[in-house]
Amino acid sequence: MKNHDIVEKNLPLMLILIVFAISFGGLVELVPQFYLEETTEPVTGLKPLDAIELEGRDVYIREGCHVCHTQMVRPLRAEVERYGHYSVAGESVYDHPFLWGSKRTGPDLARVGQRYSDEWHKAHLFNPRNVVPNSNMPAFPWLYENVLDGKHTAKKMRALRTAGVPYTDEQIAGAQEAVAGVTEMDAIVAYLQQLGTLLTHKR
Ligand code: HEC
Repeated sequence: MKNHDIVEKNLPLMLILIVFAISFGGLVELVPQFYLEETTEPVTGLKPLDAIELEGRDVYIREGCHVCHTQMVRPLRAEVERYGHYSVAGESVYDHPFLWGSKRTGPDLARVGQRYSDEWHKAHLFNPRNVVPNSNMPAFPWLYENVLDGKHTAKKMRALRTAGVPYTDEQIAGAQEAVAGVTEMDAIVAYLQQLGTLLTHKR
């Protein structure tokens, strides 16, 4: 009892002990995550995005698609029946930053790859009302006009490599050439079409 009296009457000491207790608790929860294989090991067949898909992902981020769309199928019956296999951590190990999101204004896109044709996506992004009459998704017509030059693609790949994404020297060397002249529309559709295609689509 006596020791506790000391702590309760000494505010700085209590603050120090509170900070220590919270930090210790936090570390106990966080540190094991870094060593768990299932959160750090890529799922079988996972490849880094190619140069065009990588640029498409950046267009996706720039346009704020992740503000309305999650990329995280939760292990709930309704979601698994609608979208396919729930998302697993090993699918996101090359995603920096990940785009799981939290605002579900539109459908989840974690498994949208190969669900529609390229033409469908282009018509939809140009003006969603073209293919979904009641859609309230904004139109992105400028994606057709903006042409990528690929100037920074190699740099982006190198930065990702320091974060553990296994890009090869050849991929980095050929990045600019692969991207130059491609429209943002083609790049974003390439990105969408590979999303979540490694785990079974429908049960
Ligand atoms: C303001 C919110 C909002 C933004 C921003 C937005 N979307 Fe959507 N999106 C929706 C809504 C709502 C739907 C459902 C209606 C429809 O299909 O058009 C949808 C549907 C979709 C679908 C069809 C999904 C399916 O399973 O049928 C795709 C693909 C898609 N959006 C991609 C994108 C991309 C790529 C971007 C960024 C360029 C984007 N969206 C930005 C709201 C949004």
